Amino acid sequence: MTQEEVSLEARLEEQESFDPPESFVEQANVSDPEIYAEFEDEWPECWERAADLLSWDSEYDTVLDDDDEPFYEWFTGGELNASANCLDRHVEEGAKNRAAIKWEGELGETRTYTYGELLNEVEAFAATLRDRGVEEDDVVTLYMPMIPELPIAMLACARLGAPHSVVFAGFSADALATRMNAAESEYLVTCDGYYRRGDALDHISKANEGLEGVEHEVSDVVVVDRLGDALTHSLADNQHDYDELVAEHAGASVEPVSRDAEDMLFLMYTSGTTGEPKGVKHTTGGYLSYAAWTSHSVLDIKPEDTYWCSADIGWITGHSYIVYGPLALGTTTMMYEGTPDYPTKDRLWEIIEKNRVDVFYTAPTAIRAFMKWGKQYPAEHDLSSLRLLGTVGEPINPRAWKWYYKHIGNEECPIVDTWWQTETGGMMITTLPAINTMKPGSAGPPLPGIDAQVVDAAGEEVEAGKAGYVTVDKPWPGMLRTLYNNDDRFLEEYWQEYSDPDADEWVYFPEDGAKIDDDGYITILGRVDDVLNVSGHRLGTMEIESAVVGVEGIAEAAVVGGDHEVKGEAVYVYAIPEDGYEGGDDLEAKAEDAINDSIGPIARPESVIFTPELPKTRSGKIMRRLLEDIASGNDLGSTSTLRNPEIVEEIAGQVEAD
Ligand code: PRX
Repeated sequence: MTQEEVSLEARLEEQESFDPPESFVEQANVSDPEIYAEFEDEWPECWERAADLLSWDSEYDTVLDDDDEPFYEWFTGGELNASANCLDRHVEEGAKNRAAIKWEGELGETRTYTYGELLNEVEAFAATLRDRGVEEDDVVTLYMPMIPELPIAMLACARLGAPHSVVFAGFSADALATRMNAAESEYLVTCDGYYRRGDALDHISKANEGLEGVEHEVSDVVVVDRLGDALTHSLADNQHDYDELVAEHAGASVEPVSRDAEDMLFLMYTSGTTGEPKGVKHTTGGYLSYAAWTSHSVLDIKPEDTYWCSADIGWITGHSYIVYGPLALGTTTMMYEGTPDYPTKDRLWEIIEKNRVDVFYTAPTAIRAFMKWGKQYPAEHDLSSLRLLGTVGEPINPRAWKWYYKHIGNEECPIVDTWWQTETGGMMITTLPAINTMKPGSAGPPLPGIDAQVVDAAGEEVEAGKAGYVTVDKPWPGMLRTLYNNDDRFLEEYWQEYSDPDADEWVYFPEDGAKIDDDGYITILGRVDDVLNVSGHRLGTMEIESAVVGVEGIAEAAVVGGDHEVKGEAVYVYAIPEDGYEGGDDLEAKAEDAINDSIGPIARPESVIFTPELPKTRSGKIMRRLLEDIASGNDLGSTSTLRNPEIVEEIAGQVEAD
C-alpha cells in the first residue's frame, strides 16, 4: 500500500459515522426528515402512502382493521391483483419495452424480458396452470433455482389468485415433501437442473424423490428444461414440459383475478424452534404495498434503474426485493443463476459493470467472502454506476461494512443495513439512505411508522447501551397474518412473550437480541431462540438434531452455532454414540448424510463431535451456551453449575483437535 492508502485506511477505521453524499440526497425518493413525525402523527393512515404505490381494482374502506388482535387486517375492502401491479399497469403506462428482468446464467448466457414479454410469458403460463386445473386459492409449490421461470411462475400464480409456496432449490427432497404436505399442495413446478460452478446439477431426481414423500395425490408437475442435452430425464404421466405447455398457450390472455386485499399471496416456510417449519402467510394488499414502499423509500428504486439483489428467490429477500417490490415499481431487476466466484472471483463486479447496476443489495456473509478474496477483484471493474448499497440477513461487523463502503461504493454510496424477517414481509429497522447518518454495525432507527424498541425481560425499555430484545408494538401492513393452518402456533410464537391480552396489548416478538444507543439506533445482536443464522439463512437446531438422532448408532445430539469468519455462524453437532457404537468417521459421515437428506447442503456441519456425555445442568438441561462457546473457541468461564463439569474439557479438547 502507498502511504496515502495507509492513512486512508486508518481514517476509515476510526470513523464511526458517515453521512449520505449530497448528490444522493438530491435525487432520493424520500429525503424529508419530517417523514418520521408525519408517520407518527398520521398513524395508521400514513400507510396509505404505501397503498398508493399500487393500482387497486376497488378502493379499500379501512386502512387497519384491529377488531380481532393480533389477527390484524390491512386495506380491508380493497381488491387488487399482484401480477397486474407488477406487469399490466407498467405496460399500459408505456413501459412495454423496458427491461423487467435481466437474467444471467452461470455459463454466461443472458436473457432479457421486457415488461411486455414478461406479461406475455406470465399469461401463457397462467393459462397453462389454469388448464391443468389450478384454481383460486390452490397452493402451487415452486421448487426452482434462479432461473427466470421462477418469477414467471410466481406471477402466473398471483394472476390466478393461487398462492405460491416457493421451496429453496438447495433444500432436500424431504424438505420439499414436508412443505408440500403441510400446504396440501397438489401442484409442483420444478426444473431438470441448473449450473453450479460449471457443473450441470440434477434437480429433477431430488424433486421426484420428494414427490414420493407427498402424502396426498399430486395432480400435475411442470418441469422446466433448463439444461437441455446436458441432462436427460424422463417425465412421468402427470409431468409436463414447461416449454411445450407455454408454446401451446402462446398469446393467451388471462384476466388477472381481483383478490381481496387480505387474500393470501404466498406462503413461505421458515425454521422455528420446533422441528416443524412454519408456514408464514402473506397477503396480497398489505404485503405488496409494504414491499413496494420499502423498495421505494429504503432501496430508492426508480423505474429507470437497473437494480440487483443477489439473494435467492427461494428466501423471503428474493420474494420481496427481487420480484415483488422492484417489479411493482416498474424497474429492471437482475437475476444471476450461479455462484459469485465462478469462473473467477470478480463475477459479481463484472455483472455490475456490464449492466450498469444502480443499486446493489447483498448479505454480509457475501461481503466477508469478498473481503477474504481481496480488493483487487472489484478494483478491476468500473463500479461507478452504483448509487446505493444494501445488506440484509445478519449483523454486519464494522470492518466488513467499511470494506463494502470503500471498495464497492467508492465512499460515494450510502449503505442501508436492513433488519427484517420472513415474518415481517419487508424491512423494519434501517436508516433511510438520504436522511440518516450511518453508523457501521448498527442497522439504524426503526422505519417511519414502525414502532420497534429494545426491552428487557419484563418488557421495559432498556437504557442506551444495555442488551435486550427487539419488540414491535404496532402492526404494519407487511406483517404475516398467521401461520398456515395454525393460528395457535402463530399466537404462541410471536405474541405470547410480551403481550397482555387482558389489557388488549399486543406486542410482536421477533426473537432477536439487540442494543439501542442514545440516538435510537438499534444494533441487532442475533437470535435468542434455537435458530441459527448460517450465511444469512435461518436454520432450526431442532430440525438438524432430529435428523442426527435418526441415525442408527447415535443416541443423543445437540446442535449449536459457533462463530465462523465467513458464514457468521456455522453448525456444530455434538453427538453421543449408542452403546456398542464408536464415534468416528463412519458415524460422522452418516450424520452428515442425514442432515443433507433432511435439510440440504446449507446445513452441512462444520464439525461433528462425539462425546460420551453432553454438559448438563443439575436439572438435566443441556448447556447450549457452553457448547456454543466451545465451538466458537471462547473462554468457558465457570462450569461449577454443571452436573458433569469434567466432560467440558474433554469436548473442548476434541474441538481444538478437529
Ligand atoms: O436474526 C435476524 C437476522 O435474520 C433473521 C430473519 O431471518 P429470515 O426470516 O430468514 O430473513 C432473512 C432476511 C430478511 C432475523 O430475526 N437478520 C436479518 N437482517 C438482519 C439480521 N440481523 C442483523 N442485521 C440485519 N440487517
